[in-house]
Amino acid sequence: MTSTPTIFCALDTSDLDQAKHWAKTIGPITKGLKVGMEFVNSFGPQGIEAVQESCPQAALFIDLKFHDIPNTVAGAVRTTCARFSPAYLNVHAAGGKTMMQAAKDACSAQTKLLAVTILTSLSHDELTAIGYEGQDVATSVKRLAQLTKDSGLDGVVCSSQEITLIREHCGASFETMVPGIRPAGSDIGDQKRIMTPSEAATLGATNLVIGRPITGAPDPAAAAQTIIQSLNKEKAA
Ligand code: C5P
Repeated sequence: MTSTPTIFCALDTSDLDQAKHWAKTIGPITKGLKVGMEFVNSFGPQGIEAVQESCPQAALFIDLKFHDIPNTVAGAVRTTCARFSPAYLNVHAAGGKTMMQAAKDACSAQTKLLAVTILTSLSHDELTAIGYEGQDVATSVKRLAQLTKDSGLDGVVCSSQEITLIREHCGASFETMVPGIRPAGSDIGDQKRIMTPSEAATLGATNLVIGRPITGAPDPAAAAQTIIQSLNKEKAA
């Protein structure tokens, strides 16, 4: 068993007061919070600051998946780091090595930079349509994870099914940020391939992204606590 993963609770809501309340009540338990495109486009930089003020002790993952020319992505990374100093930030690996290197050069030392390899929502047919012809998802994920590592980034966002592949290929110190996590018995929702927090931890996930199983629970703080306890129990076993 490797070290216990940090949980980043996804604050997926279009209600800022709700997001601040979750940050205040869930953040101290998970120690990690995630904001994404919907949140940032709804509430802007002030929304991110409001979350940080609601729970200053939680690490923040700003999940904006930058993908543009190197100069533009570098500027986005630089300004995001300067304003929010997040724990994690991400780009698309498909932006290429020069883009990822520019992003890494612009990234501050306190922020870890991850890349998205293949979006988990893409089917085989869709991958073929965008030019990933004749390659299975695992091969593409492996190639883009290697490119991410060669570009000097800290890790990748990946599905639970890819944790082992990436650790074997890129080494245990190359980080994984894993969504699609569901505690036993919780609603799957729109996620297709899921894993429990303990299963993902056992495979060596560095971080887990968990949204609705926590925020959709009748008592979100209690749901977060139960997940943390299950991970600690697993570690002690
Ligand atoms: O509510 P749930 O636990 O499914 O939320 C997962 C979070 O992780 C959401 O914010 C979603 O956008 C994000 N995510 C994902 N799958 C990916 C990448 C990100 O579910 N491949």
